[in-house]
Amino acid sequence: MRQAGRSLPEYHRARGELSLLEAVARPELVAELTLQPVRRYGVDAAVLFSDIVVPLAAIGFGVDIVAGTGPVIERPFAGRADLGRLRPPDSEELAHLSAAVGLLVAELDVPLIGFAGAPFTLASYLIEGGPSRHHPRTKALMLGDEALWLDLTERLAEIAIASLHAQVAAGASAVQLFDSWAGCLSPAHYRRYAALASRRVLAAVAEWGVPAIHFGVGTGALLEDMAVGADVVGIDWRVPLGEARARLGAEVAVQGNLDPAACLAPWEAVSAEARAVLAANAGRPGHIFNLGHGVLPQTDPAVLQRLVDLTHRHGRTADR
Ligand code: CP3
Repeated sequence: MRQAGRSLPEYHRARGELSLLEAVARPELVAELTLQPVRRYGVDAAVLFSDIVVPLAAIGFGVDIVAGTGPVIERPFAGRADLGRLRPPDSEELAHLSAAVGLLVAELDVPLIGFAGAPFTLASYLIEGGPSRHHPRTKALMLGDEALWLDLTERLAEIAIASLHAQVAAGASAVQLFDSWAGCLSPAHYRRYAALASRRVLAAVAEWGVPAIHFGVGTGALLEDMAVGADVVGIDWRVPLGEARARLGAEVAVQGNLDPAACLAPWEAVSAEARAVLAANAGRPGHIFNLGHGVLPQTDPAVLQRLVDLTHRHGRTADR
């Protein structure tokens, strides 16, 4: 998940004073930052070091990523005239990304997961101008001008497709579509305003023959809708994993869902929480053990190491 590296001393040494956007423009550094948690922990897949707003920065929309805050937009999306500022990045604008993926697949012996932001979540950043708790401007535009909203989310789908295509063409084995803030929508609004554009992205990925993970936060009411066109649904800790599996059926895999904040508790508590997640899956195939959201920066790397080892021991026992 997001920010796995932030709790590692080697991450801070390698990144130094570079901003996130400066760092992602250096393929060798991206490869190193992506590899660090894989080397250290022995996890079963790598997540590309990037951010969901990187393609928007690449096309010159005017995005900064402020440490401790998140993405900040210089001139937020305010109306139809701003559609002209949105287009898919071209191959030159995607060159750093493709180069980083190429370096990584040559080096890794586990799969590389590429990713993109889903149209709804990207639209929220563009319209609010930064992180938002209630997404008020986003919802006002969505409900007030459906035609403009659909045009906006269609452009954002094209941007996600271009970015994911570059990653898959360069060798990424799977992709994750992050609709982190879709959980603020009712199921009816999700279906009407968000699902269409996300399904376009998922349909494109399906054509390339790589699996897609579809993730959201607080999306317990949206699971079935988010599963359409996805191979894996990512869930946070608010959704009971056993319930998610029962609702989605055996055809859809599930990723999750240990609470990242639980990793700050003493190990006995962390291990009990992790075992509860594994027990909720009850040995069914198609469970990717993961945190339900990003690693908190103050997490002790030793705890993450013990979690990886516990999960691997469990997996070996469950296989027998
Ligand atoms: O762990 C990794 O190294 C993977 C890289 C990664 C980042 N962002 C790097 C990052 C990934 C997978 C993301 C995805 C992302 N970015 C999402 C979707 C996943 C999720 O967490 O829901 C979202 C919503 C964003 C937008 C974003 N960018 C937020 C909310 C923040 C947090 C701000 C903060 O500091 O708490 C960021 C900043 C960000 N993205 C950082 C990193 C390493 C930290 C800031 C920095 O290092 O400059």
